Amino acid sequence: MTNKRPKIALIGAGQIGGVMALLAAQKELGDIVLLDIPQAEGVAKGKALDIQESRPIDGYDAEITGTSDYADVAGADVVIVTAGVPRKPGMSRDDLVEINLRIIRDVAGNLKTHCPDAFVIVITNPLDAMVYAMQQVTGFPTHKVCGMAGVLDSARLRYFLADALDVSTSNVQAMVLGGHGDSMVPLLSTANVGGVPITTLIDEDRLDAIVARTRKAGGEIVGLLKTGSAFFSPAAAAIRMAESYLKDEKTLLPAAAWLDGEYDLRGFYFGAPTIIGAGGIEKVVEVPLSDTEREALHASAGAVQTLVEGIQL
Ligand code: APR
Repeated sequence: MTNKRPKIALIGAGQIGGVMALLAAQKELGDIVLLDIPQAEGVAKGKALDIQESRPIDGYDAEITGTSDYADVAGADVVIVTAGVPRKPGMSRDDLVEINLRIIRDVAGNLKTHCPDAFVIVITNPLDAMVYAMQQVTGFPTHKVCGMAGVLDSARLRYFLADALDVSTSNVQAMVLGGHGDSMVPLLSTANVGGVPITTLIDEDRLDAIVARTRKAGGEIVGLLKTGSAFFSPAAAAIRMAESYLKDEKTLLPAAAWLDGEYDLRGFYFGAPTIIGAGGIEKVVEVPLSDTEREALHASAGAVQTLVEGIQL
């Protein structure tokens, strides 16, 4: 019997890492360790201390620490990886593959030694290729390694639909599947507002525009920020996944998951609806797709497979 809090390791204490630390602390998910490279250890320690000092205001007791030493994340229950470089205006996520692959290899080697039992959520882009590299280098079971993309892309789609209809975002259900890039597949056939099909509420032209905006939503933020990419919503999305795992919620959340025949696809990571609970990715759920959606999903899978085949592990 142990009454220890779960341990959450955040690898990368940059923009997303810092916001995740705050959100995880406010949700009282566990003790949090922010880890960065030695040159940025001060950033990790500074952000951790800054959040610790907000504890009396928010009223929780979780410990938040910063480090550059993997010994401090040993035995973590959940590891969320943002280590890497974000894109700048004009770049696609795929442009990051070379530089971020080197970083993911380094992180994965350390996680293999120090956090063999963790549930690992990768955020670093290009997401589908980086989560593949993480699993291959660590050798962790495929259901214990996944990528954060679908919760974020779906949240963007849901927000745009809710905004267009002027209804509560919590009323809008919609999912985005496929690769975390321009080929992603927003599903309209099952999207609904309180059970009412979205296709009966918004005309086709407007829906097409919302789908196009969803596909480019990350780029829209990069264009505005100019110095980096989105960080509040990616942080919220990954923490939502960690919460479902730590609380054994078994919530249906779209994630980059290892496919083993689902959707007639096999042997790589790809955005699909999953059940996240204490077992990690407990199930990949197959939802009914229209013919157009199925075609788009396979086209997206082709794009991801090409990128994955090109990486040297
Ligand atoms: N080990 C640990 N941390 C590392 C390493 C490494 N080998 N290499 C880089 N980092 C750290 C950087 O020092 C930096 O603090 O990763 C952090 C990344 O933070 P930001 O540059 O602020 O990037 P962020 O916006 O958080 O995005 C991180 O997520 O969404 C993706 O495309 C995005 O790949 C990018 C990642």
